[in-house]
Order: sequence, then structure tokens, then C-alpha cells
Amino acid sequence: MNETIQVMLGHRSIRKFKDAPVAKEQLDVIIEAAQHASTSSNMQAFTVIRITDAGLREQLAVLAGNQAYVSQCPEFLVWCADLHRYERAGARALPEGEEPRSTTENFIVATVDAALAAQNAAVAAESLGLGIVYIGGLRNNPRQVSELLRLPQYVYPVFGMCIGVPDQEPLVRPRLPREAILHENGYCEERIDPAIDQYNVTLSDYMSERTNGKAATSWSQAMAAKKDAPRLHMREFLYGQGFRLE
Ligand SMILES: Cc1cc2nc3c(=O)[nH]c(=O)nc-3n(C[C@H](O)[C@H](O)[C@H](O)COP(=O)(O)O)c2cc1C
Repeated sequence: MNETIQVMLGHRSIRKFKDAPVAKEQLDVIIEAAQHASTSSNMQAFTVIRITDAGLREQLAVLAGNQAYVSQCPEFLVWCADLHRYERAGARALPEGEEPRSTTENFIVATVDAALAAQNAAVAAESLGLGIVYIGGLRNNPRQVSELLRLPQYVYPVFGMCIGVPDQEPLVRPRLPREAILHENGYCEERIDPAIDQYNVTLSDYMSERTNGKAATSWSQAMAAKKDAPRLHMREFLYGQGFRLE
């Protein structure tokens, strides 16, 4: 155990923040940590947009499914997968008429790069005593979000992130039993059902404690509820943003 691992194991999403700014030096180092994440072939295929305009924040909060903390948190960052810079950079070195390609592979690269950078930022922020929550809700209305942020072709918002000084101390959310996610020499199907049974009990107890007995939702119930928010618009939206996924 060391301090870095303690920070990681102490992670819990924060959805209520103190009315205190994140210092410029803190934000600078958070972004620097993001830039130092590993990145496929050094493509650095992400862009992060800091939202300081209060009106824009309000609109994003609504578009993210009325998540008030998007407008209330001290800092809100939108993490974008970005193949625009890659296209521009490559075009300079390619023969006239030839372009780098927006393939499915590059879409994965850009999405992974955005996620790795964001998670580095999250850990950096938490190591400074700040709290964060990711906001995938931006993908409820990705086209409107992209228009508001003037995202060019080959760029899409993967998620947002609220950052600030925590004004709540939620319990750390238990994870699946390790044997469910750590397999050896191949996929161990026989581990799945027992792990789900076990985790249903663990998470239900946790939810009950967290909500003072109001909601003892199991993991199976939570996963079943996800079918109601499938975001089926994503394929068409991505196509429109230039991600042709060939
Ligand atoms: C990509 C991504 C998107 C998320 N989107 C939201 C969101 O829109 N709103 C929210 O309140 N939490 C959101 N979360 C937070 C998750 O619900 C949370 O991480 C998960 O339930 C585990 O809880 P913990 O972070 O407290 O350990 C998101 C997390 C990730 C990784």
C-alpha cells in the first residue's frame, strides 16, 4: 500500500461540491497529468474543453439529463475523442489528395485516449483532495452538445467531468468479487454466476446503507434498468461527426 494506491482505492464519485474554486495551479497539474497518460502511437487523440461560461454550463446540465451538479460544480471539463488534429497533422505529410482515415480502429484509439487521459486527471484531482464525477449524460444529446461546443468533424464528446472540493462523504462503492474480473489463461465462464449472486447481495446491502433503507437495489436490478437508456442515436450521431467506422 502506498499513497497513490490509497487514493485509487478511496475513489467515490462526488456529486455535491463546496463553493470553493479549484486553484489554477491545481487545474494546471490535473491537465498535465492527463497529457502524460499513455496514448496509442502517441496520437494524443483527445481534447478537453473547460466550461467556464455559466450559461453554457446550464445548457449542458440540462442536456446531460438535468444533472444539476454540472452547473454547480467549480470546474466542468468535457473530454472529447479527437481525430481532427490527427487528420490535420497527417494531411501535411501525405501526398496531395490522400487523407488519414477515420477507421473503426482509430475511433477506438481516440475513445480510449480520451478515457485514459480523463482517468489520469481524476486520480490527480483526487490526490489533491478534490472529488470528481464523470458525466456520460452528455451522450443523451451528443449532437446539441457538439454544436454548443463547436466540435469539428472527427471530434465527439465522450463524457464530462465535474471537479471540486467534496461537500459529501459517500461510502466507497464495493466492486465485483475479484475472481469475476481477474481470469487466468482464458475466460472462466463458470465464475460469472456465483460472482453475480455474491455481488447482488453486497451491492444491495451497500445501497440500503447509502439510502437509509430506501433503495436496496441489487446489481442485477441496476443492470436490467440500463435497457431503458440505450442511446441508440450514437451510431447515427458518430457517422454525422465523420466517424465512418470503415
Ligand atoms: C464514463 C462514465 C460516465 C458516467 N456518467 C455519470 C453521469 O452522467 N452521472 C452521474 O451521476 N454519474 C456518472 N458516472 C459515475 C458512475 O455512476 C460511478 O462511477 C459508478 O456508479 C461507480 O461509483 P463510484 O464512482 O462512486 O465508485 C459515470 C461514470 C463513468 C465512468
